[in-house]
Amino acid sequence: MTALSAPVPPVPTEVPPGSVAWLRASVARFSNGPDHTRRRALAVDALAPVDVDTLQHNASERTSRIMAGLDVVDVMATIARPVPVGVLAEALGLPDVSADVALVAAAYHPHMTPDAAAEAALTRLLAACGGPTEAAAARIGLLVQACDATAGLIGNGLFASLTGKPAEQPVLATRRRIGGEDVTVPLAGTPFGAGPRACPGSRHAVALATGVLAALRGFRLTERETTWVAAPNLRMPAVLRVTRG
Ligand code: HEM
Repeated sequence: MTALSAPVPPVPTEVPPGSVAWLRASVARFSNGPDHTRRRALAVDALAPVDVDTLQHNASERTSRIMAGLDVVDVMATIARPVPVGVLAEALGLPDVSADVALVAAAYHPHMTPDAAAEAALTRLLAACGGPTEAAAARIGLLVQACDATAGLIGNGLFASLTGKPAEQPVLATRRRIGGEDVTVPLAGTPFGAGPRACPGSRHAVALATGVLAALRGFRLTERETTWVAAPNLRMPAVLRVTRG
């Protein structure tokens, strides 16, 4: 058995319905055994009808529309987070909930303590998804999982194409419970994970990033130095300002 096939560290399940803790307790990402199998199937089924070529096209169009009105743009804040999530939300039959998804994404991982803004954002997302059910958690989980990781794919891809440096992997590690201990497992060599928990959105993420990056051709960086996000398991620019070449 490889380390990635081991169970994930369990999260508390006696939690207020509809809270961020409830979202963690209801998605595939932090579940094990039959709960993981059933919740992963809900996520995979929700993604199944989503056409990746349409995602790519819509991500490109949306990026071009935003860039058209702007001179200097921080790609991370203005494009890399909102565009993929907004396009994916539309494909899943939801309004543009990207701002609320970003708030929940910042509080999603179990070591974070959700603030009131994240809880309020999740309340709105659940209202848009018809209330706190496992199916709603699966749809919100897809958007939250897409948020930072796809932003990283875009930020790293753009940084690499503008500097000539190799593109770095955005998600560096994950967590597993092995021999009773919670351990960090590096993802080197498997950017989308592997085994029964491998990312079900990899084709969608690549399509979204490809669409965004196509619309950013012809722009250049405004600064020499790039700041990188502080999270230890993410490698992606915090800010990436560009302007027309
Ligand atoms: C459309 C965009 C995306 C969607 C909808 C998505 C969705 C998901 C979901 C639902 C899971 C949980 C699967 C499970 O527990 O069985 C997952 C896992 C994962 N995703 Fe994605 N994801 C997206 C983008 C990305 C990107 C861009 C990366 C990195 C480059 C990434 C890396 C991963 C990894 C490494 C895992 C496995 C984590 C683990 O094994 O602990 N994902 N993704």
